[in-house]
Amino acid sequence: MSDTIILGIESSCDDTSAAVIKNGVLLSSVIASQAVHESYGGVVPELASRAHQQNIVPVVHEALKRAGVTKEQLSAIAFTRGPGLMGSLLVGVSFAKGLARSLDIPMVDVNHLQGHVLAHFIKESEDDDNQPKFPFICLLVSGGNSQIIRVDAYNKMTVLGQTIDDAAGEAFDKVARAVGLGYPGGPKIEKVSHEGDPKAISFPRAKIADGVYDFSFSGLKSAVLNYLNGCRMKNLPINQADVAASFQQSVTDVLVDHARHAIREYHMDSFAIAGGVASNGVIRAAMEQMCREEGVKFYHPSPILCTDNAAMIGAAAYYDFIAGKRAGLDLNAVPNLKLGE
Ligand code: KG4
Repeated sequence: MSDTIILGIESSCDDTSAAVIKNGVLLSSVIASQAVHESYGGVVPELASRAHQQNIVPVVHEALKRAGVTKEQLSAIAFTRGPGLMGSLLVGVSFAKGLARSLDIPMVDVNHLQGHVLAHFIKESEDDDNQPKFPFICLLVSGGNSQIIRVDAYNKMTVLGQTIDDAAGEAFDKVARAVGLGYPGGPKIEKVSHEGDPKAISFPRAKIADGVYDFSFSGLKSAVLNYLNGCRMKNLPINQADVAASFQQSVTDVLVDHARHAIREYHMDSFAIAGGVASNGVIRAAMEQMCREEGVKFYHPSPILCTDNAAMIGAAAYYDFIAGKRAGLDLNAVPNLKLGE
């Protein structure tokens, strides 16, 4: 059988990425992050779109070069259809259409959320068999989403619960800004938290009465803001590291609690984490401990495959492609695409 070589393209937010996947095995992955947003404390959509336009051609060239693959050898082009920022998504979708048309090869559209989950199926080598077995529970925690998902097949995923307000990553970013750490918040909170005491301040662990798997992080964010305002009004010193560590512990406890509940209720023997927040070392360690206690196998992609990347888009597309999925040239970006759409 001939090889299936897929070029994956990801441009849903502020990372321009391209990757080459051959028969499910990762040959190359290139990510251009956008420093332009740092001085604004968050992603500026218009600037993200412009940076994608500047980055996409060199990033794709580099991915092909590192893979040792010519564009004429490609079987298909995969791209992120949504969810994400419209202006950012459009750059990837338009580029994929142009390249696929010029090479006269098919395209495969990928749901970004499905891509995050299928990061677990990126093979590092041909004999890499460290992938979760279906069914399993996946906790997807990123800048735009926080979901507990039951995964039954590459393209059969059921959302058991999700955030009713802020995503976990969004809470990290907002709290980081409030304590003066800047953007991107997640890695900065994690770094400074190593010098802090996670028990120093008691922040809330929200429970949703009629949704055991749902999350709410906006109350936690407000509790941190209230704490900071209270200190400032009373002229009390603020220990940045203690605030960061206590906030991070509160998020970790809620995530672990929900994951444990789902593992027990659905009698799963595998549990996986995905998304940018899943690169957090404290959260990973807490999940690993919980999985040990529950006697289930724990899967965690390397941190670089947790944050946005095209390798996960190429891997998701590979399984769709061999199952016969193709995207038409009339297909467009969908900023609020849901899992399963
Ligand atoms: O998956 P991702 O790159 O983009 C989305 O699809 O949303 O996730 C980005 C989010 C940001 O909110 C960022 O602050 C958070 O993931 N993040 C982290 C860490 N690294 C990235 N959150 C906590 N700890 C980290 N180490």
